[in-house]
Order: sequence, then structure tokens, then C-alpha cells
Amino acid sequence: MILINGKETAANLKKEIAKKVEDRLAAGKRAPHLVAILVGNNGASMTYVANKEKACQQVGFKSSVLTYPDTITQDELIAEIQKLNNDPTVDGFIVQLPLPKHIDEQSVIESIDPSKDVDGFHSVNVGNMTLGLPCFVSATPHGIMELLKAYNIETKGKHCVILGRSNIVGRPMANLLSQKTYPGNCTVTVCHSLTPNIKDLTLQADIIIAAIGVPEFLKGDMVKEGATVIDVGITRIPADNEKGYRIVGDVAFDEVAPKCSHITPVPGGVGPMTIISLMENTLRAAEINEK
Ligand code: GUN
Repeated sequence: MILINGKETAANLKKEIAKKVEDRLAAGKRAPHLVAILVGNNGASMTYVANKEKACQQVGFKSSVLTYPDTITQDELIAEIQKLNNDPTVDGFIVQLPLPKHIDEQSVIESIDPSKDVDGFHSVNVGNMTLGLPCFVSATPHGIMELLKAYNIETKGKHCVILGRSNIVGRPMANLLSQKTYPGNCTVTVCHSLTPNIKDLTLQADIIIAAIGVPEFLKGDMVKEGATVIDVGITRIPADNEKGYRIVGDVAFDEVAPKCSHITPVPGGVGPMTIISLMENTLRAAEINEK
């Protein structure tokens, strides 16, 4: 069994990005600039944004955070987004989700210029992704594709079973892995809450991507020998430690790992790859926007 080390893979990619930034600066170009919009004071969102800022510093990007109270109206927020769309010093920006209930998230996302939508959430980027056209692929699917590449995992002709049909993981992964690319060329099955006999399907899978948000859903008797298992779950479970919680994935790791050819741990698997994907997208946005 090979443990897929997302932390190490992300660290290697981070070095590559930092080197490209150095090369840009040496060529007289400016550092890529990522802006994060943070509305309200959701603790998890504040942590995510702080981590994104830290990653920007580590690779030599400029980063800014624009914070707004949770009383901001949808129109006011969209007006702020228009300013970023028109600001030539901003290469890419993200609107940290979730937004307060009175704001329609998709309307806000649709107001972002797709060429600056480094989260890859705009319908133009999602549409281009499904057609195999140039686009920004959102962080988690992008990170999973990078992990499959980094570990040379064979995907051609393989049966990939995806647990979960979310817009941000399950459905884009199904699309990407069915394309005529590497990683890709898979036969894909998407399972969700209304799928009967999920175990019958997972037992046929060469690759399983677990992204349903149910802690330890995938048990040892649901996986065939030699499968590759990618765990996207990150549920906080109360625990008697300093933080008061521990992070649990969608896979019962101790039961599943012995059967696998490759498996991602939680934490330290897919998680560290997501921020790197945002950095990669921002670097590409800088390259595209200066043309
Ligand atoms: N909230 C949780 N994950 C994400 C993400 O990847 N992007 C944004 N914008 N918000 C999030």
C-alpha cells in the first residue's frame, strides 16, 4: 500500500511556483496578485483565508484581503467585485463561501470576470471545463488530478466510482476523469444519497473518490483489493485534545488502507493540495491577463 502524501506533493509544487515567481520578477514582471473577499466573521472562513494569505507569502505572491460586514447587500458586494474585475493590478480573486443567507451565492459568482475567477466557480469556467477547453478548474478537483499525476496512477480504462455529486467535487471529478486525457479515460459512476446498493458499485471500482461528507462512510468490505482511494472528507469530530476536535475523512482508513494500492490520508492528503491549486490558478491568471 502506498500512502499518497499530499503534504509533500503540495510542498514540491509550492517550490515550483515560487521558482516561477522568481523568474517573473527577474524578467521585470510583477508578482501575481490574489485578492480574497471575506464577508462576516465565520471562523472557518477566516482560517481558510488566513491560510491562503500564508500560502501566497510562501510562493512570493502579493495577497490582499477585503473584509465586509455581514450586513453588506448583494448589490454592494457585486459593486466591489466589479471594481476588482476592472483593476489591472489584481490577477485573480475569490469570494470566500459561505455568504450570509440574504446573498445569492451564484449571482455573486456570476458577477466575477471568468478570467479572474481563480476558484473556477463561474459558469463559464465550469462550462469550459466540461468541454475540455482552457479554464480554471476548482481547487479540490484540480488538486486530486495533480495527486493522481504525481503518483503516476493509471486511470485509462479504469472504473472510477465517485461518492457524492456536489458541484465543487463529485460532478467536476466525474467530468474530468471521463475526458480523453491523463488523468482521465475512466469509466465513471457517480453515487449519491439516492443510489441503491452503493457497496455493489464500490466493490467494482479501481478508483474510489469519497466526497460525501459522511465520516468513515467507506468501510473495508466495500473496497476491492488493489483499489486507489482518494478521501475528500474533512469532518470535525469533537475530541479530547488541544483543539477540541479531530478531522475525520469519508473513509474508514484503518480498514480500507490494507486493501489499497494507493490511499490518501486525512489530514495530509487532498487538503494540502487545494491551496496549491489556487496558487497555480492565480499564477496562470497573471500569465493570461498580461497577454
Ligand atoms: N469555502 C470553502 N471552500 C472554499 C473554496 O475553495 N473557495 C471559496 N471561495 N470558498 C470556500
